[in-house]
Parts: sequence; C-alpha cells; structure tokens
Amino acid sequence: MEIVIMENAQQVAHRASDVIELYVRRGATLGLATGSTPLETYKELIRRHHATDLSFAECRAFLLDEYVGLPQGHPQGYRETIRREFTRHIDISDDQVHGPDASAEDVRAAALTYERQLLAAGGVDIQILGLGTDGHIGFNEPGSSLVSRTRLKTLHPQTVQDNARFFESPQQVPRHVLTQGLGTIVDAGHLLLLATGPTKSAALAALSEGPLSAACPASVLQWHPHVTVISDEPAAAEMKLRHYHRAVLAQKPPRQPH
Ligand code: GLP
Repeated sequence: MEIVIMENAQQVAHRASDVIELYVRRGATLGLATGSTPLETYKELIRRHHATDLSFAECRAFLLDEYVGLPQGHPQGYRETIRREFTRHIDISDDQVHGPDASAEDVRAAALTYERQLLAAGGVDIQILGLGTDGHIGFNEPGSSLVSRTRLKTLHPQTVQDNARFFESPQQVPRHVLTQGLGTIVDAGHLLLLATGPTKSAALAALSEGPLSAACPASVLQWHPHVTVISDEPAAAEMKLRHYHRAVLAQKPPRQPH
C-alpha cells in the first residue's frame, strides 16, 4: 500500500487525477465513488478534459453503490449525482456508466445482475474510493464480510447522520442501499482511496495500521496488492507511520509507478 500525504485537498485532487489520467488514456474501466471527497478530483479531470486532449470516450464506468427507495432521477441518487458532478461534463456516454439497479422489485436479482455486468466488462481497472468516518468503503458498514459481493445493506446511524447534509432532513436519508461488496471492490486491479479532513483521521489510521478486520471494512485494502491512498495532512494526523510515508514519497524512485 502506497500512502501519499499531500498538504491539502487541492493537491490530493491533483495527484489523484494524475493516477486516473494514466488509466483514462488506456480506455480503462473506471470504478467511480460518490460522496464529497472525490468531487475535487472529478473537477480536475473535467478541467483536463477541456484543457487537454484527455478523452473518456473509450472508457466505461461502474458505480460502487446506490440508495434503495429514492425515486428514479432523485438528485441525491448516486446515479444522478455522478452524472451531475462528473460524467455529463466529459465525453463518456450515459450508457457506458453503470450502477446497481436499486429501484428493482427484486434487489437480490439486481445485485446478481450487477456482479455479472462487472464480470462481463472484465472487471474494474481502477477503483476510486472514499472513506466513511466509521471505516466503510462503498456502503460496507462495520461487520461486513471481507469477501462480500454486491448486496442490500442497512446503513449505520452514523452514516445516516453523516449523509444527512445532502438531504433536507436526516429522516429523508434512505436506510438501505445496494453496494458492491468488499470482495467485489478488491477484484479491481488498482484501488485508489482518497481521504481528506480531520473527520477521517481515525478511520485512515485504522485502515492502514489496525488489524485486518470487518470492524474496519476499509482494512481489507491491506489484503490487496495494488493500493494507493492519497490523503491530506489533517486526515493523516493519526497514522503512526506518517513520517515514514512522507520519507518514502520524498525518495520515490522516478520510474516507480503509482
Ligand atoms: C458515502 C459513500 C461512500 C463515501 C462516503 C464518504 O457513504 N457511499 O462511497 O466514501 O460516503 O463520504 P464523503 O467523501 O462525503 O466523506
């Protein structure tokens, strides 16, 4: 796991875009995350798309998760959010952006269909991840099986509270979601986790320095051969190894890949 500590969120977005751009130029399959953390990165990628020859036309994308129970097209639905914040500003067609169908009558069947779609696409090349304050990735709350696949999950009250800022009131936050499982997420070739702000410092320390445990779902990243974590200083504050990570970055061999 490479842990890159940048001074601020702007630099995190820039560095993350450098990594993602390499994949976009190969027409890769991108794993997209919602939440506020990757928004700056999406903005930077949109900027590069307009300012340079960076094209997403050969890429396709898969979302990590979706709320169950929101009407189709609801502005806080993750499909709609990713369209509004990212994909409608770049040259990727809507039918190349996939998400689990959380409006289906039979969500178990929808979860299986999504797994099959991922498989048929040859899997995700680079998966962008945010981090929940309770250590979740996607919507895999503490206690999630480390080998879980796409399925229905119930949100932790803390997550409902964290996400209430996107809705008019906490009562409007859906309690259920369809999310890629931890086993689904770690099938991606490269995991790129972004963490910014002091509210993520405990979860970031637990994911990188705590035990591999369902108590911190993001700790499953320790079991993956190609992980890049990019954080800002406030999010890095509780990692005991932060000084080492800074030294590694300062001496990174020029030809060592991301
Ligand atoms: C939600 C999403 C996660 C995201 C997390 C953190 O729970 N399902 O994918 O990582 O929020 O969100 P934020 O980046 O807004 O802190």
